[in-house]
Amino acid sequence: MAIKRLGDPIATAKESGRLSPDEVVGPTRPSDVSAEKAPAKAAAPSKAEAKGKGKPGRRAKVIAFANQKGGVAKTTTTLNLAVAFAETGHDVLAVDMDPQGNLTMSQGVDPDKVEKSMFDVLVHGMPIAEIIQKREIDVGVASIDLAGAEIAMSAQIGRERALEKALEVVRGDYDFVCIDTPPSLGLLTVNALTAADKVIVPVQCEYLSMRGLVQLQNTLHMIRENLNPKVEIEGILPTMLDSRTVHAKEAVEILEENFGDKVFETRIRKAIKFAEAPVRGASVLKYDPDGKAAGSYRSLAKEVLTHGS
Ligand SMILES: Nc1ncnc2c1ncn2[C@@H]1O[C@H](COP(=O)(O)OP(=O)(O)O)[C@@H](O)[C@H]1O
Ligand SMILES: [Mg+2]
Repeated sequence: MAIKRLGDPIATAKESGRLSPDEVVGPTRPSDVSAEKAPAKAAAPSKAEAKGKGKPGRRAKVIAFANQKGGVAKTTTTLNLAVAFAETGHDVLAVDMDPQGNLTMSQGVDPDKVEKSMFDVLVHGMPIAEIIQKREIDVGVASIDLAGAEIAMSAQIGRERALEKALEVVRGDYDFVCIDTPPSLGLLTVNALTAADKVIVPVQCEYLSMRGLVQLQNTLHMIRENLNPKVEIEGILPTMLDSRTVHAKEAVEILEENFGDKVFETRIRKAIKFAEAPVRGASVLKYDPDGKAAGSYRSLAKEVLTHGS
């Protein structure tokens, strides 16, 4: 099963001890589910839940979408998976933690014209409910000044927990909170990973993209040790797959050899619809509801709903 590939970056990293399989794969999915379901049922509703106007006892599952490489479909996956959850009757909040504001833009909101944004939430402690805009899903919008948030937050006590704190108040109102992150492992991404229960890692199917996974693993390890012991990878998502090329097929095989069942069964193929939809300020599920592109994110939603907690 484990075909040895000489010169493969992930295999080399594993051998040199930079990437331990246990650390990478973590507990298997079935035990994830049982370990998390039991306490969730027994736990008393928190203050935030009591305040929440949602269903009693509800507590959103928070998923961060992370990969420090740009252009791997983080934003596309955050939005389309969030909309796929909403299509199945879930209340969903998508949070844009990227100063580029692509998620915000993809829902037809211009980050240059936004008055109140995640910047105010993170830096000034503004309640997140005040900056949420209702689109296909609820969006915690970004504005360009989010680019200055890391510096503005750097002297704050508890700077890594600003997002976690902000979300606590609204977790009773949603079933899922999906957090889009910037292409770096800086303070904004650290905030997302600290607030998250799970991480979904979109990976473009080529060797160079996969190298970055080692660095992300190291960051996650540090987050678990220092800030959020429970956070773990929900799954690794092969994106922008051009199944006609041998290279892409091999890249997916290497992912599966190294990450086992952490690799989602769903694959997101290359499709022009993904580039067209954001221009219309819509998800692919809205822009081309019956297309294959939309179907692939519905299938991902099904996988997460089936395997997750
Ligand atoms: N499956 C896909 N096929 C083709 N283009 C895609 C696909 N997924 C995303 N894109 C496009 O690739 C670009 C980068 O995607 P994006 O989600 O913004 O990546 P990231 O957030 O990781 O930087 C965008 O223009 C997006 O529309
Ligand atoms: Mg992005």
